[in-house]
Amino acid sequence: MQQIIFEPELYKFKTVHEFLEEFKLTEDDLILTNQYIYEPFFKKENCPAQTIFQEKFGTSEPTDVMVDAILKEASKKPYNRVIAIGGGSVIDIAKVMAVSNGENVDELYDHKDQLEKQHFLIIIPTTCGTGSEVTNISIINRTRLGVKMGLTSPNLFADQAILIPELLTTLPFKVFATSSIDALVHAVESSLSPKATEYTKLFGYKAIEMIIKGYQKIIAEGKEILPELMDDFLTASNFAGLAFGTAGCAAVHALSYPLGGTYHVPHGESNYAMFTGVLKNYKEIKSDGELDKMEKYLSNLLGCEQNHVYDALEYLLNHILPKKPLHEYGVTKEDLDTFTDSVLQTQGRLMANNFVPLDRARVYKIYSELY
Ligand SMILES: [Fe+2]
Repeated sequence: MQQIIFEPELYKFKTVHEFLEEFKLTEDDLILTNQYIYEPFFKKENCPAQTIFQEKFGTSEPTDVMVDAILKEASKKPYNRVIAIGGGSVIDIAKVMAVSNGENVDELYDHKDQLEKQHFLIIIPTTCGTGSEVTNISIINRTRLGVKMGLTSPNLFADQAILIPELLTTLPFKVFATSSIDALVHAVESSLSPKATEYTKLFGYKAIEMIIKGYQKIIAEGKEILPELMDDFLTASNFAGLAFGTAGCAAVHALSYPLGGTYHVPHGESNYAMFTGVLKNYKEIKSDGELDKMEKYLSNLLGCEQNHVYDALEYLLNHILPKKPLHEYGVTKEDLDTFTDSVLQTQGRLMANNFVPLDRARVYKIYSELY
């Protein structure tokens, strides 16, 4: 059984300046990023690398049409290394660029077992959630087929992942909130997964501790201290990425996709909407084993009795991001059936990692309770 995947070389630099001093970028490098990241942090450094700004091609999540346009633009700029500096969307697009030698998204998906690395890939995350800098999946909305699909390949791993906490110091609070809750969910789901190992749990449980303690500090000392906590949150999200990169995510993610896709709820927020609802239902089916261990660990961090752990967790998280019932996102009673079918039909990969199997009636029950 695979214990843990350590694929990219991992680096950390306090500042962009320190990164550029060690990684000498040249005109042969291509940076994929957003202008609002590049202008304040890279422009003053006179970085010679070529650039593509993702927002020139659309501001939504990555679609086949958007990625094809970016691949076309990139083909006009001969380059060796591709450097993704951004959130989940930028990183997902750069992973595709790294395996494309002129092929478009459809052609890459058609030959997904034969993908080969065409460009050295460096990933620098600017949010503290996805952990995507250490995973090998890229999620593209294939609008031509009407389906959101993950492309996975050993060749989608970055060659180097670089953490630069300075890049997160200007993160808006809402983006911090949704991305860090996503990281917390990665850490919890991967630790409860049947594919969890001592190695993934080492990273998963440590990430949980760092995120919960960080939230407690923000609540005690105010949001102003957020910039100085970014190193911890970025590291925690990277730990969680290493954990779920091997052990996988599960029902929280699976149930959140129909909500996110239908009502355009940010990924971390739609995860939070499902988070404790799924855990409480696991507990109704099986309350011992790893879930018992997780509850004890959380109740210790939260300073509460084990039987109040989910309420205490929600109480804490509500200070970071208020939890909303599903109907407040526009979800209708009829949607609950459609969402349930969608989970059963399309999320088998994630549902296989559940702490205990959840059948159709149980998925519907969770949605109904959260409605
Ligand atoms: Fe996630």
